[in-house]
Amino acid sequence: MPGPETLLILGGTAEARALADAAVEAFADRLKVVTSLAGRVDPASPVPGELRVGGFGGAAGLAAYLRAEDIGLVIDATHPFAAIISVNARAACNGTGVPRLTLFRPPWTPPPGLEWIEAGSLEAAAALLPGAGRRAFLTVGSGGAKAFANMPGLWFLVRLIAPPEAALPLADYAVTIGRPPFTVENERRLIREYQIDLLVTKQSGGKATEAKIVAAKEAGIPVIAVRRPDPEPGDVVITVEEALAWLERRL
Ligand SMILES: NC(=O)c1ccc[n+]([C@@H]2O[C@H](COP(=O)([O-])OP(=O)(O)OC[C@H]3O[C@@H](n4cnc5c(N)ncnc54)[C@H](OP(=O)(O)O)[C@@H]3O)[C@@H](O)[C@H]2O)c1
Repeated sequence: MPGPETLLILGGTAEARALADAAVEAFADRLKVVTSLAGRVDPASPVPGELRVGGFGGAAGLAAYLRAEDIGLVIDATHPFAAIISVNARAACNGTGVPRLTLFRPPWTPPPGLEWIEAGSLEAAAALLPGAGRRAFLTVGSGGAKAFANMPGLWFLVRLIAPPEAALPLADYAVTIGRPPFTVENERRLIREYQIDLLVTKQSGGKATEAKIVAAKEAGIPVIAVRRPDPEPGDVVITVEEALAWLERRL
C-alpha cells in the first residue's frame, strides 16, 4: 500500500501555521505535513507536523528538494511580500509537475475616516514622508529600514522581531522589539508614548498585525501603506478553509 502523500507548506506566516494545524488534524494518516521556514527568526512555538528550516538554494534547489523528498503537493503560504520564494515555488512546481496552491491573505480595508496613502514601493513611501509626519512608526522590517535613510528632521520608531545585529541606517530612531500578534492596546500605547504622528506599513493584510491600523484610526494619524505584489499565477485562495478543500480534492 502506498504511504501518505506529502504536503510541503512554505511558511513564515500565522496562516501557514494555522494551515499546518488544520491539515494535520483534518487528514491525519492520509497526509504528511512538512512546513518550511526561511529561518530568519526562531518559531514562536512548535510547528504542527514536521519542520525544515533554511533556504533551498533557488528554484533549482527547491525542485531538487521536491524530488528528493517525494513531495506530492505544495502550498505557498508565505508572506505577501516574500516574492522571491513564491517565484521559485512556481518555477520548481512547474518543472517537477507538483500541484501548487497559493494561500494569499486579503489586504486590509482601511476603515472609513482613516487617512490612507498608498505607495508603490518602500522608496516611494519614503518620498511621501516629509510633510506627512515627523515621528513615524516604521513597521516594514529590518530590511525595509534602509529605504528611510538620510531623512533629516524625521524621527522613527522601528519595530523589529529581534534586536538588530548592527545600527540601523537611520539618522534618528528608537527600536521596539515585538512579534505578532499585537493588540490594539499595545499599538495605542506605542503611539501615545512615542508621540507618533504617522504609521508606515506594508499592505500585509492578516489579523496578527491589523491592530496598528485600528490604533492609527483612533489616534487620527495618517497611514502610508506600501502596495503588495500580485500573487504568482496559478491557483490562489485566501482562507485556510479553502486551502483544506483544495487538499481534499487532491487526496
Ligand atoms: N517579507 C516580509 O515582509 C515578511 C514578513 C513576515 C514573514 N515573512 C516570512 O519570512 C520568510 C522570508 O521572507 P523574505 O521576504 O525574506 O522572502 P523572499 O525574499 O521571498 O525569499 C528570499 C529567500 O529566502 C528563502 N526563503 C524564503 N521563504 C522561505 C521558506 N518559507 N522556506 C525556505 N526558504 C525560504 C529562499 O532562499 P533559497 O533561494 O535559498 O531557497 C528565498 O530565495 C518567508 O518565509 C516569509 O513568509 C516575510
